[in-house]
Amino acid sequence: MSTLAVYPGSFDPLTNGHVDIITRGARLFDRIVVAILVNAEKTPLFNMAERVEIARAVFKDYPNVEVDTFDGLLVDYVEKRKARVIVRGLRAISDFEFEFQLALMNRRLNSEIETVFMMPAEQYVYISSRLIKEVFALGGRVHGLVPDMVEARLRDKQAARV
Ligand code: PNS
Repeated sequence: MSTLAVYPGSFDPLTNGHVDIITRGARLFDRIVVAILVNAEKTPLFNMAERVEIARAVFKDYPNVEVDTFDGLLVDYVEKRKARVIVRGLRAISDFEFEFQLALMNRRLNSEIETVFMMPAEQYVYISSRLIKEVFALGGRVHGLVPDMVEARLRDKQAARV
């Protein structure tokens, strides 16, 4: 029986921390779906089409990585996809409380689904999409922390604003 895992998130934008987790997941599971939440934030920096396009481009050479979108309850999406595993990245103790709540609530909603936590490589433990957006907006360097395509798109957005 092949194992399908779902890696859900907002991915606004995709960071190298996400890429690291997806790459590890693709080695561990037969197939991993990067599931991008629709309307996670009212005003995302990258719209849904951009986020899907970026993730598909970054993982174009990974036949067992799929990029999809979902809305509503995550467990309903996971069940619809006939998957049993949710993958989440754990960067630090500070992530733990929220992730613990999320995992236990999801288990209460559907006890057939297990959440599996994976740790990214050390160089990515402090990266978050929120910090990337903030650092870039204030003129800081994000090179090496996000895929090149994300960096280019961030520059395009900045250029379009001035
Ligand atoms: O990248 P994020 O913002 O940390 O991802 C959070 C996400 C998308 C995994 C979470 O907000 C989610 O699953 N939302 C879908 C709605 C849902 O199922 N909520 C109840 C979760 S206990």
